[in-house]
Amino acid sequence: MKAEIGTDIDKAAQLLKEGQVVAIPTETVYGLAANCFDIRAVSTVFEVKRRPNFDPLIVHIASAAIMDELARAIPSAARELAATFWPGPLTLVLPKREIVPYDVTAGLDTVALRMPNHPMTLSLLSKLQFPLAAPSANPFGYISPTTAWHVMQQLGYMIPYILDGGPAEIGIESTIIGFDVDAPVILRYGIITQSDIEKVVGKVKSRVHTSANPQAPGMLDSHYAPKTRLCLIQANEEIPDGYVAYLGFQQRHPTIDRNHQILLSQTGNIYEAARNLYAALRQLDEGGFECIYVSLITDASGEAQAINDRITRAAQTLPTN
Ligand code: TXA
Ligand code: MG
Repeated sequence: MKAEIGTDIDKAAQLLKEGQVVAIPTETVYGLAANCFDIRAVSTVFEVKRRPNFDPLIVHIASAAIMDELARAIPSAARELAATFWPGPLTLVLPKREIVPYDVTAGLDTVALRMPNHPMTLSLLSKLQFPLAAPSANPFGYISPTTAWHVMQQLGYMIPYILDGGPAEIGIESTIIGFDVDAPVILRYGIITQSDIEKVVGKVKSRVHTSANPQAPGMLDSHYAPKTRLCLIQANEEIPDGYVAYLGFQQRHPTIDRNHQILLSQTGNIYEAARNLYAALRQLDEGGFECIYVSLITDASGEAQAINDRITRAAQTLPTN
């Protein structure tokens, strides 16, 4: 089977109703979606992604009202965050109701919920009687897809349809918030930053893990290592001779061939950098280089922290999903 790439929302809806898996656009990255109540469809998602079954999926919902159908004991902070940031790049981890299959939550009693902000996917969700369980549409361990073509390249032979919503506007995965009793805790950094969250609910902690721990599946972290070795360096650090590439934020590396460099944002725009990050890593990964050198963004903003988190994980080849 070779996937079709198209913009037919009704077709995507029909396939999902039949229990098939369909790639969908979101504002963060593309997702690999299935009816969250259909455990066969959900298990297909795990198979297609080759994702370990201890790593839970995010459930995408059409409106904040659906939170109460899937989750219980919802802290008021969660409601305030949903009211402020949904639809948008924020995922809330809440105690699950029985209706949510353990296959989706990898056996956890919590479920991760997000109302995505992409017009096509919101329209798709409004046509369905069920929410969509969807991880990022990449093979486990690789870079998340930010275009329909990225999905096609890696999963195209295993799924029937890729709903094309254009290049992802944000480019890195959603911020994930869990709750310790009722206190919000950041579990994954994203474009919605700690200070954005704190403006709504006051001081929050973060517990962003850097290593795999099957005992705590939700903390297994995402990243997206390219196949080429990725080495972190300071922006002007000397690089040994070789067939190598450089990925920088705003400034080129002084010695590497210009044609082997990509800058995330020539104007130093952090949102542009996030939007370009994964496509740039993919492009350099295809160059056959011995090594891709990359520098972190030296900027104290929360957005830079989220991008640096992804770069660091990719460079350390930490487990990814
Ligand atoms: O932006 C995004 O969040 C994208 C788009 C497609 O929505 N999705 C995404 O999904 O990044 P995925 O599966 O690649 O990453 C989801 C993360 C994983 O680290 C998973 O362990 C965590 O969410 N997660 C899911 N359910 C959880 C739970 N009940 N408790 C803790 N973490 C959870
Ligand atoms: Mg992922």
